Amino acid sequence: MKQKILVTGGTGYIGSHTVVELQKAGFNVIIIDDLSNSSEAVVGQIEQITGIRPEFHCLNMLDAGLLDDFFAKSKGIDAVIHFAAFKAVGESVEKPLAYYRNNLISLVNLFECMEKYKSDYLVFSSSCTVYGQPDQLPVTENTPRKAAESPYGNTKIVCEDIIRDFTRANKQIQTIALRYFNPIGAHPSALIGELPNGVPGNLVPFVTQTAAGLREQLSVFGNDYNTPDGSCIRDYINVVDLAKAHVIAIERLLKRKNESSFEFFNVGTGNGVSVLELLKAFQKATGQKVNYKIVDRRAGDIEKIFADTTKANKVLGWKATATLEETLLSAWNWEKKIRKIG
Ligand code: WQD
Repeated sequence: MKQKILVTGGTGYIGSHTVVELQKAGFNVIIIDDLSNSSEAVVGQIEQITGIRPEFHCLNMLDAGLLDDFFAKSKGIDAVIHFAAFKAVGESVEKPLAYYRNNLISLVNLFECMEKYKSDYLVFSSSCTVYGQPDQLPVTENTPRKAAESPYGNTKIVCEDIIRDFTRANKQIQTIALRYFNPIGAHPSALIGELPNGVPGNLVPFVTQTAAGLREQLSVFGNDYNTPDGSCIRDYINVVDLAKAHVIAIERLLKRKNESSFEFFNVGTGNGVSVLELLKAFQKATGQKVNYKIVDRRAGDIEKIFADTTKANKVLGWKATATLEETLLSAWNWEKKIRKIG
C-alpha cells in the first residue's frame, strides 16, 4: 500500500516540484492549496510529467473546520509537507497582519489536525532568512538565528518556535525543517516552474522576463556592497534538487518510530554567487544578454549569505547536483514555454 503524503501548497512553485519527486519515489500524494498564488492547472501539469494525477482539494487552511473535515475524510495521512504560506518579503512589510495570520494560524490548524488524526510526521518549509545577515559565512545550522528583516522572515522564525514547542509537548510528533536558500529554476520538462503574480520580486524570474521582453530592464539593487563585484551574494539552489531533499526528509521520518524530535537542515549548494555573476552565468547558459542598470540598494536586503551544507550531506545523504548554468537554462526554457517564444 503506497504511503499517503499530504502536500499543503502543492500547486505552488516548490510544492509542485516536490509532488513530482514524491510520486516518482512511489508515494501517494494529496495536495491542498487555496490557489491564492498558484493555479489548479498545475495538477494537470504534474500528471503530464509523472502520469499520475495527484488528488487535489482547494482549501484554505485558516478554516479549521474545513481542514478537520479534510483530515477526517482522508483516511490516514502518513506524513505532511507544509509549503502553504505567503512568501513575498516586500508584501509582508505592507501587510504584516495578513502574513502573521496566514503563516502562523495555518500551521497551528495543521498541527491540531495532525494530533487529532494521528499523523505524526511533518516536513516544514523554512528559510535561510532566519539567519538574517550572519556574522560568519558559510552558515551552519548552529549559526544563531537573528531578528528577521521582514514580517515574512519573522513568520518563519515563529513557525520554527511553534514546531519546537509543539514537538516538545507532543511526544509522537516528529518534524524536520528545511531552511531553503534561494530556490531557482524549473523542471527540465518546462511543464512546471516559477510563475510569480505581477511584477516578480525575486531576481531570476525578473531576469527571464527581461530576457523574454516582458520587462524593459532589470534593476540591480546596489553594487556598493562589500563583495568582490559589489553586488549581493546568495546561494541559488535548483528547485528539483530542493524537491529531492523533501523526499529524503520524509523517508527519514517515516523510518523512525516514536522518538519525538525536531531537526533542521540548511538546503543550499554551499556556493555564494553575486547578482552580476548570475547575470553572466545566465548569458553563458542561454546566449541571452540581460539589459540591466545598477540602482540603489533595496531596503531589507542582506549583503551576503551562503550555506554550509555538511549536515544535510552527512545526515540526510543529500547534496545539490545541478550547476548554476543548467539551472538558469531551465528557468529560461520555462519562461520561453509559458510565453510561447520559439
Ligand atoms: C536575490 C538578490 C537582490 C530582484 C527572498 C526571501 C527568501 C526567499 C527568496 C521565499 C538580492 C537582487 C532581486 C531584482 C535585484 N523567499 N535583486 N534585482 O531577497 O535573497 O530572498 O526570496 O521563499 O526567503 O528572503 O531573493 O531573488 O529577491 O533577491 O538586484 O529585481 O537579487 O538585491 O541581492 P532574496 P531575491
